[in-house]
Amino acid sequence: MKILMVCLGNICRSPLAEGLLKSKIDPTKASVDSAGTGNFHVDEAPDPRMIKTARKYGVDISSLRGRQFEPADFDRFDRIYVMDEGNYDKVIAQARTAADESKVDLLLNQLEPGSNLPVPDPYFGGDQGFEEVYNLVAKATDQIAQKIEHGTL
Ligand code: 4NP
Repeated sequence: MKILMVCLGNICRSPLAEGLLKSKIDPTKASVDSAGTGNFHVDEAPDPRMIKTARKYGVDISSLRGRQFEPADFDRFDRIYVMDEGNYDKVIAQARTAADESKVDLLLNQLEPGSNLPVPDPYFGGDQGFEEVYNLVAKATDQIAQKIEHGTL
């Protein structure tokens, strides 16, 4: 099972989701990557505030680097989890087939199916926003990790 986490910049929410899910799964059962729909932070390390929050909870995301989502990602991945509806629209706009589209879902639909709730963009806010991102992404990645373990994702 190959999983891609997608946000806007690929420096806050999706690298955290990548690092957290990697820390919870058997690497022989699944792999995880992340990307951004925007190109402004390509090759950059995650935001220092996200690195710090992840480190506080024992997850090191400092070696990850930003990259932009591209249509070939539909071929590379089985599931594509996006952080909000803006990311959803940008990814879906690049889908070539109905099969591509069916791979994409909002990450927080793992917690409340069909709710389409966002992981709020923390970039322009304060530290509390990074804590909120951590809490939401931790719960959602717990769900995904359990499904991987049980072979039900
Ligand atoms: P992310 O956060 O999508 O969670 O990585 C953002 C990072 C950078 C920007 C916006 C959101 N930006 O506008 O540069």
